[in-house]
Amino acid sequence: MTALLDTLSALPRVRLAHLPTPVEPLDRLRAHLGAAPRLWIKRDDCTGLGFGGNKVRKLELLLAEALAQGADAVVTGGVVQSNHIRQTAAAAAKLGLECHLAVMTGRVPHVDPDYDETGNILLDRLFGASCVMLDWRADRNAVIGGLIDELKARGRTPYMVPYGGSNALGAAGFVLAVVELLAQARTLGVRFSHVVHASGSAGTQAGLAVGLAALAPDTELIGLDIDAEPERVRRDVERVAHDTAALLGAADALRGRPITVVPGYAGDGYGLPTAGMIEAVRLGARLEGLVLDPVYSGKGFAGIIDLVRQGRFGADDNVVFWHTGGAPALFAYRSLFG
Ligand SMILES: Cc1ncc(COP(=O)(O)O)c(C=O)c1O
Repeated sequence: MTALLDTLSALPRVRLAHLPTPVEPLDRLRAHLGAAPRLWIKRDDCTGLGFGGNKVRKLELLLAEALAQGADAVVTGGVVQSNHIRQTAAAAAKLGLECHLAVMTGRVPHVDPDYDETGNILLDRLFGASCVMLDWRADRNAVIGGLIDELKARGRTPYMVPYGGSNALGAAGFVLAVVELLAQARTLGVRFSHVVHASGSAGTQAGLAVGLAALAPDTELIGLDIDAEPERVRRDVERVAHDTAALLGAADALRGRPITVVPGYAGDGYGLPTAGMIEAVRLGARLEGLVLDPVYSGKGFAGIIDLVRQGRFGADDNVVFWHTGGAPALFAYRSLFG
């Protein structure tokens, strides 16, 4: 374990996030649900930079690599309400790097008249990113490759941030996050039995899987599918977790451990509202003063509420919901909550 901690602390990192993010009890939600287990929340919506969220942890490592390579521009892609591209744009602004974004329209069918103008896309532009709009069905890798070629032709040195920040280096940010959580558990005098969160491009779950396997193997990790593609997500988590463990010299820790991605909370598809999500966003707001989003953390919160109601956790359990952020997207769905 010491070897893993040494490898982690030797990774070049730019400080972008407000860390550690708080861990707080969800006692009013627990009372409302009549829940047996103790419920907690890890507030990665409070990572700070550009409205915060889970990607800032990945960007601390990815953009350190960009700077080490002498990059003067970053390129990445995502949908109109991508939290990943918004956090990348904010980080690039803070580090004085140009940011070029391939922004995909049309993945989410019409959900709100403001969807294409407010929330994350408004912030991307405010952070000074250049946004190239393209249709969801277009070849996003070709467009991103085109942006990189164009920058190189202009004598620039671009760095490609992978989709969702989800490669081994980005995911290592969530291995570091496990170290942070375990220090908080020691201070609180609690052993967390489960960690539950919304999983998408896989880097968050992959990093948590490696960190927990190596440092807290009794803690169960539950990813919740919000893409309506649980098997694809599970395979991606497995692949990125394997790469992350290899990067950190911790491949043995993962051996024989299953990756759990629970289906059932995505509804008809990515970004499409569900009744459970609307209930969860309202409960989080009214009982705990939380801001959850309609695409990721709201569906994740609906998932943990449902698992509690199903009796998945025992009376002695301490269950952490990892709040991965996403608040700006709420404004792009305002008609659901008006
Ligand atoms: C708010 C929020 N939660 C969860 C996720 C999923 O994280 P990952 O892509 O690492 O699986 C994302 C990814 O975009 C996100 O923006």
